[in-house]
Amino acid sequence: MNLTIISGARPNFMKIAPIIHELNRLKPESGIDFRLVHTGQHYDEKMSDTFFRELNIPEPHVNLGCGGGTQAEQTAAIMVAFEKELMAHPADLVVVVGDVNSTLACSIVAKKLHTKVAHVEAGLRSWDLTMPEEINRIVTDALADYFFTPTPLAGKILRHAGVPDDRIFFVGNVMIDTLLEHRPRFRKPLVWDDLKLEKQNYIIMTLHRPSNVDDSQKLRSMLEAITGASQDVPVIFPVHPRTAKVISQINNGHSQINNFPFAFPGLHLIPPLGYLEFNYLVDNAKAVITDSGGITAETSVLGTPCITLRNNTEWPETVELGTNELIGTNPDAIKPALEILFEGNWKKGSVLELWDGKAAEKIVKHLIHLLSSEPQPLTDSFQRL
Ligand code: UD1
Repeated sequence: MNLTIISGARPNFMKIAPIIHELNRLKPESGIDFRLVHTGQHYDEKMSDTFFRELNIPEPHVNLGCGGGTQAEQTAAIMVAFEKELMAHPADLVVVVGDVNSTLACSIVAKKLHTKVAHVEAGLRSWDLTMPEEINRIVTDALADYFFTPTPLAGKILRHAGVPDDRIFFVGNVMIDTLLEHRPRFRKPLVWDDLKLEKQNYIIMTLHRPSNVDDSQKLRSMLEAITGASQDVPVIFPVHPRTAKVISQINNGHSQINNFPFAFPGLHLIPPLGYLEFNYLVDNAKAVITDSGGITAETSVLGTPCITLRNNTEWPETVELGTNELIGTNPDAIKPALEILFEGNWKKGSVLELWDGKAAEKIVKHLIHLLSSEPQPLTDSFQRL
């Protein structure tokens, strides 16, 4: 029995790691082999290789080298390359995770080659079709055969869309497996000593959504609002390549903030960090400011206050039960949110069901069962209705 596992972009790597480790652990008894395909969507050392090393992910069997380009160029390049790959190395099941372009592209290719697809982190919805990720989620879930869900709501959304109960497996949040496993290994990045950072006395920020960073004026207003309201607490900003490109465009080729034509006191731009160093900063921060979805899940488990610069989220549980607040993308909303934080009135999170470090165990148990049982006829999405 053969599995093909897809990984493409940074937020995939912490999701595939525990699944791969569990598959390897059980391989002697299950006999299930896997082929790891890296689409190359993310390709910089700091966006990809560092994660493979730190999370002990084995070298991919193949890297399709499909980084960069527009949404369509990237998706198409991955589809063309993955079709060749899957024809040369047929699989009984393709496992895709999350909601990046690689997830979408490989699901379409697999289904057109009559290969079953299992989606890990299925059923999430932000209900915002301006996000490429939302389109990726909807299409992947319309095609997938098996659905591993991180929350009860995700299962409800899939059932509502007509997915039969016996295809949905509520396993918990696999990203949290990696977080809990590696928490004892989180380590200080260089910037800690360089800036003499102190626990609970700095803010860490990430911004990379096209809607927040592609417009340089908007990005500038956000950075001004954040630094203007951060009350001399340093703001550490590991800069995603997409954001770095915008900063560089308006800054005569420099991606460093100290060369910026406008000043942001207290804002420290650094290159993207690896998993262990980034999460050390998140774990010890006064707060996180972000437009990521995954980080809001991690801060909810670590108990770090999280201010999200988005109008919606595919992880509403992080707002209802976790430490996350959505404040929208208007820079005017930043000051009041930071005031609540500095007054010590940020909400405390509570436990999220099955975000307990055991999701991969459940996923692999189901995969082994699915691959070793008699194939059942699968309904397509129209028959589901
Ligand atoms: C992608 C995901 C997003 C995820 C994010 C995390 C999609 C639609 N979006 O967005 O869900 O939150 O990853 O990082 O899949 N680049 C580099 N080096 C790299 C990677 C990217 O320079 O290692 C450049 C690309 O060439 C491109 C830009 O950064 O110009 C954006 O990369 P891309 O993969 O298209 O989307 P992300 O914004 O990273």
